[in-house]
Amino acid sequence: MTASVQIRDLHFVPMLSEAEVQARVQALGEALSARFKGETPLFISILSGAFVFASDLIRAYEGNCEIGFVKLKSYTGTRSTGDVQTVMGLEKDLSGRHIVVVEDIIDTGRTLHFFLEHLRSFNPASLCTVTFLRKPEAAQFEVPVDYIGFDIEDKFVVGYGLDYDGLGRNIPGVYVLAEQ
Ligand code: IMP
Ligand code: MG
Repeated sequence: MTASVQIRDLHFVPMLSEAEVQARVQALGEALSARFKGETPLFISILSGAFVFASDLIRAYEGNCEIGFVKLKSYTGTRSTGDVQTVMGLEKDLSGRHIVVVEDIIDTGRTLHFFLEHLRSFNPASLCTVTFLRKPEAAQFEVPVDYIGFDIEDKFVVGYGLDYDGLGRNIPGVYVLAEQ
């Protein structure tokens, strides 16, 4: 693992090696395979960050499955309720399907909280959530999470799909912002 990574003005140091990440993703894939044995779950990955995790996770999944991708676009609403989000790319019929939502990281929980509400309105047979990372200290919205790769401290990280200003998604491990 590279000792450190420089992205623009920021310096990052190792947090999780590629081997640690791969071992954990493999275990999550096996747990999901056991849970959905005989079913054909539909994995829904939230772009952009979760595409790397989703790609490894479905290859660790044994059995038939489908994968779809959504883009959540947030914009500041004119009302005082704050951010409003729209979901783009959800074309499949979700009713009666076993849905597995795949997210890169749960920070405040806002993104997933909103998206799960949206999915419930389509009456899936079941809804489960998998996140690669979670920052428990940052939680502001209650989000049920069934499978978690790693709980981490409330610090900014890059790698394995996660970016800083669009960069760092291609790094195979996870790096954390260095203390100044
Ligand atoms: P939430 O809606 O507050 O849970 O934020 C989730 C989104 O914020 C993630 O899908 C990421 O795109 C982004 N995010 C949160 N924490 C980090 C981080 O440490 N590094 C990179 N992106 C992050
Ligand atoms: Mg994201």
